[in-house]
Amino acid sequence: MQVSIRVNGEQVSRDVEPRQLLVHFIRDTPGLTGTHWGCDTSNCGACVVLMDGKPLKSCTTLAVMCEGHEIRTVESLEVDGRLDPVQMGFHERHALQCGFCTPGMLMTARALLDENPDPTDHEIRTAISGAICRCTGYKNIVSAIRWAAEHEATARQEV
Ligand code: FES
Ligand code: FES
Repeated sequence: MQVSIRVNGEQVSRDVEPRQLLVHFIRDTPGLTGTHWGCDTSNCGACVVLMDGKPLKSCTTLAVMCEGHEIRTVESLEVDGRLDPVQMGFHERHALQCGFCTPGMLMTARALLDENPDPTDHEIRTAISGAICRCTGYKNIVSAIRWAAEHEATARQEV
């Protein structure tokens, strides 16, 4: 069946199997492989993208369910060579090691700060509670998101 989804501001249309998952639609059709595919069971959070601004696990969402919606992937964060403050925060606070969880963490963080620009550490931990990192122990990830919240306005101008 034909599905048409707006991905990072561009309309992507394709004939898909009704059972095709959003994560595969994103990775295969526009070739946006920044969205990772991990557990395939809604547990790890590596596949998180934003649908209409809200975090969504793309490994357990059918592509056809996203018809007419706006999807944002990790590739949308950097604009004209400027990193998003959440990307800068992860760099500043050394919040990644292998990087497998990072796309999902970044998109989850972006959604959090869009809704709540000044979250407490508890709110940050709650926001990322659906994402698993096997490397960092989470402390640096929380610190990175806090950094992004504190530098949101200035970071966009500095880079
Ligand atoms: S791949 Fe989607 S939650 Fe793990
Ligand atoms: S940085 Fe390796 S899983 Fe998070």
